[in-house]
Amino acid sequence: MLTIGVLASGKGTNLQAIIDAIGRKEIPAKIGIVLSDNRDAYALIRAEKAKIKSLYISPGKFKTYLEKKVEKNYVQVLKKEGVELVCLAGFMRVLKRDFLNAFPEKVINIHPAFLPSFPGLESWKQALNYGVKFTGATVHFVEEGVDSGPIILQAVVLVKDDDTPETLHQRIQEKEHIIYPQAIKLIAERRIKIKGRRVLAGDL
Ligand code: GAR
Repeated sequence: MLTIGVLASGKGTNLQAIIDAIGRKEIPAKIGIVLSDNRDAYALIRAEKAKIKSLYISPGKFKTYLEKKVEKNYVQVLKKEGVELVCLAGFMRVLKRDFLNAFPEKVINIHPAFLPSFPGLESWKQALNYGVKFTGATVHFVEEGVDSGPIILQAVVLVKDDDTPETLHQRIQEKEHIIYPQAIKLIAERRIKIKGRRVLAGDL
């Protein structure tokens, strides 16, 4: 059974979707540990409620990434728990090469847009401001670029005339909660092959 580590900075609804899917026995995996760079992340409480080990590790002095020694600490803790797949679930820091090399092709992320459109922060606002008619959610492997790794699954969300950033993000999140557990299931069942930029999963 695959052991997952989840990194989350915020409210943790994607973490909850993963916990629930595992609880329904849809994914042959278990969550070994939940880590957060934010002491107040509700994700930590969700982990506690689900009786999953969780830990806040202070990110250090930078805003957008972890200090080198802190990143090493994250890796050590994940390895100690036997984590084989790292799932970023609203983890708002960019991971550097040393971290990614510790888990080659085993770090995945959920992004609130139909990549490659709108990488970066608050992508639902970017989509609304740009005026696109649809956006979506993407699960992808993490590489050194920002939100740029090979795409595993995507879902489309239509933008409505009366959408606000909040309503649009809400509908994107509904899709996230479906495709993130699905992508983890594909990996846990070893159904995924990476060929260059393409991720092949046979017929879904
Ligand atoms: C999600 O919408 C996720 O896609 C986004 O943060 C939110 C976290 O929600 N991630 C990013 O923007 C990363 N670039 P959650 O804490 O409820 O799972």
